[in-house]
Amino acid sequence: MKRRLPVCSKDELGPRVVRTAWIGTDRFGLPREALVLVDEGGEVRAYVNQCKHLPIPIDSGSREFFDAEGTHLLCGTHGARFRLDDGMCVRGPCRGQPLDPLEVAVEDGEVVLLLDDE
Ligand code: FES
Repeated sequence: MKRRLPVCSKDELGPRVVRTAWIGTDRFGLPREALVLVDEGGEVRAYVNQCKHLPIPIDSGSREFFDAEGTHLLCGTHGARFRLDDGMCVRGPCRGQPLDPLEVAVEDGEVVLLLDDE
């Protein structure tokens, strides 16, 4: 059974826009956050805001999520770049490892995360 978590209107998403949502805690009791965005093709994507290299948020709390070109998500601590359409790290210490994807849907213009109950 999936837990539905409404995040925002799809109209709010666009280039260089990320909406965030708290999605619970991890197995260590640390808070988990979703990053919700649209990729270059306009598809809504959602990833857990945690790098595979070190278990820290990619923005380290800065709320800056994109590289200068706005084409990739950015780890502000180490300069890693993550593709928007699949979360894959293409440059940096975690190259070849994607951010954890989250299931997301658009229902009547609203972006909704579909989360596994824990
Ligand atoms: S934490 Fe993974 S590249 Fe910065």
